[in-house]
Amino acid sequence: MLYDLIVIGGGPAGYLAAERAGHAGLKVLLIEKNKVGGVCLNEGCIPSKTLLHSAKVLDYAKYGGKYGVKCDAIEYDHKFVVARKNKVVNTLVSGIKMKLKMNKVTLVEGQAMILERTLEGFKVQVQEEIYIGKRMLIATGSTSIIPPIPGVEAGMKKGFVLTNKEILDLEIIPKKLVVIGGGVIGLEMASYYNSIGSQVTVIEMLSKIAGGTDHDISKLLMKHYEKKGIEFKLESKVTRLTDTQVIYEADGVEHQVDCDKVLMSIGRRPVTTGYGLENIGVELDRGAIKVDEQGRTNVVNIYAAGDVNGKSMLAHTAYREAEVCVNNILGKKDVMRYHAIPNVIYTNPEVATVGETEETAKEKGMDYSVTTLKMNYSGRYVAENDDGDGICKVLIDKKYNRLIGVHMIGNPSSEIIFGVSLMIETEMKIDDIKELVFPHPTVSEILRENIFS
Ligand code: FAD
Ligand code: NAI
Repeated sequence: MLYDLIVIGGGPAGYLAAERAGHAGLKVLLIEKNKVGGVCLNEGCIPSKTLLHSAKVLDYAKYGGKYGVKCDAIEYDHKFVVARKNKVVNTLVSGIKMKLKMNKVTLVEGQAMILERTLEGFKVQVQEEIYIGKRMLIATGSTSIIPPIPGVEAGMKKGFVLTNKEILDLEIIPKKLVVIGGGVIGLEMASYYNSIGSQVTVIEMLSKIAGGTDHDISKLLMKHYEKKGIEFKLESKVTRLTDTQVIYEADGVEHQVDCDKVLMSIGRRPVTTGYGLENIGVELDRGAIKVDEQGRTNVVNIYAAGDVNGKSMLAHTAYREAEVCVNNILGKKDVMRYHAIPNVIYTNPEVATVGETEETAKEKGMDYSVTTLKMNYSGRYVAENDDGDGICKVLIDKKYNRLIGVHMIGNPSSEIIFGVSLMIETEMKIDDIKELVFPHPTVSEILRENIFS
């Protein structure tokens, strides 16, 4: 069977590319070995945010007294929450299947194996069937990094050590949870389990949490979490695990934490083995598929998008990269830009950032100014948050008089950041931003306050 495009991997990059290419009239085959929706929909973005939303509702109930709403008998029905999460996921998976059908995409469920390149195109095997694609888009995503620390492998077999996948489906709330890695997955899950009653310890090897996040935001975020009872062990190296403990080293001294579950969240790596990339000579760069700004690999007519190219590892980046690939396949030149892609940590409080941090601006030798305002310059924020702790930090390029970075902690920054992203992407001048009318009262006004300050 001959196709114009074979897409391997049905996550955000793969299903969106298939939909767009099908919509444009190409004959498209999408191959997915698990469930369409990929990591994002089945074990990432959507299930984690569904759980986090329940935790937020619980937080409102617990702390409702601060807003004059007393809830005396609060019951958290964990089983119900997990079942609701599964329902949300299933609804969205069905939605994607429907859209694929509407766009005349053929979906094959099974593991793809690339065999060879022939004169007709690329030969791909799924079970007993052989398919040929004139072009191919690789969108096989990423998987959790499992470090070779003694006790980890055995712990995984016993269900003591978990990845992002298993932690979403726990039947019993752990009494004591250790999170190894204080990045985005670690923090979102630490925040969730802390809210629903686990005693949580995060072990991070660096001196700050949330990796590349602005240092002031990272510090405040940690303060918020500590206030809620999460413990952090920074600059700490896990050395081994027993059946009930995580042993780590800090300042040359060995320590241990007792726990009933461990979450391993020290990063993810692109999936580039086990499906025949080597059979057609696709080049890798530090374990990721090497692509140019149009999503092309070194092999003509083979494109790659999403986590597998190792560039950003976010679903919204994967969507856009997929569109760039499809546009180029259709002969409409399109390039990928990464400088205005927002990052969000969906805990309570939310963190949302886009563009340069002070650290990266300095590294690039930019001439910039910084202003930081407390979120309670916004009336709406004060009305809705009585902690008054949020901040919004703005970086302006002095030479070109435009925004280069915005970093926020406080709710609902995840809903504000897109507008800021647009300003950075379109290189709006500060004077033009000053002329914009922001709806009042909204927390987004903090940006206007900041620019005028
Ligand atoms: P994936 O979603 O990984 O999909 C790849 C697909 O390819 C998989 O379904 C896999 O089964 C399939 N596949 C692999 N090999 C083969 C083969 N040989 N044959 C057939 N099929 C194959 N990003 C955000 O932007 N926002 C968030 O809030 C967010 N939250 C996250 C929370 C967690 C816990 C995790 C783990 C990730 C989160 N991410 C988030 C990241 C996001 O999930 C990824 O960036 C996104 O899923 C990448 O999409 P993708 O299409 O590149 O790959
Ligand atoms: P990450 O890269 O965000 O964080 C990993 C953390 O683990 C880092 O802080 C690192 O210093 C630390 N670490 C590494 N090795 C360690 C060790 N041996 N001991 C202790 N700490 C160690 O990776 P994470 O959290 O696994 O997430 C992977 C990716 O998934 C993210 O980079 C992001 O792209 C995506 N994601 C996005 C989300 C969002 O947008 N809200 C939510 C969850 C994931």
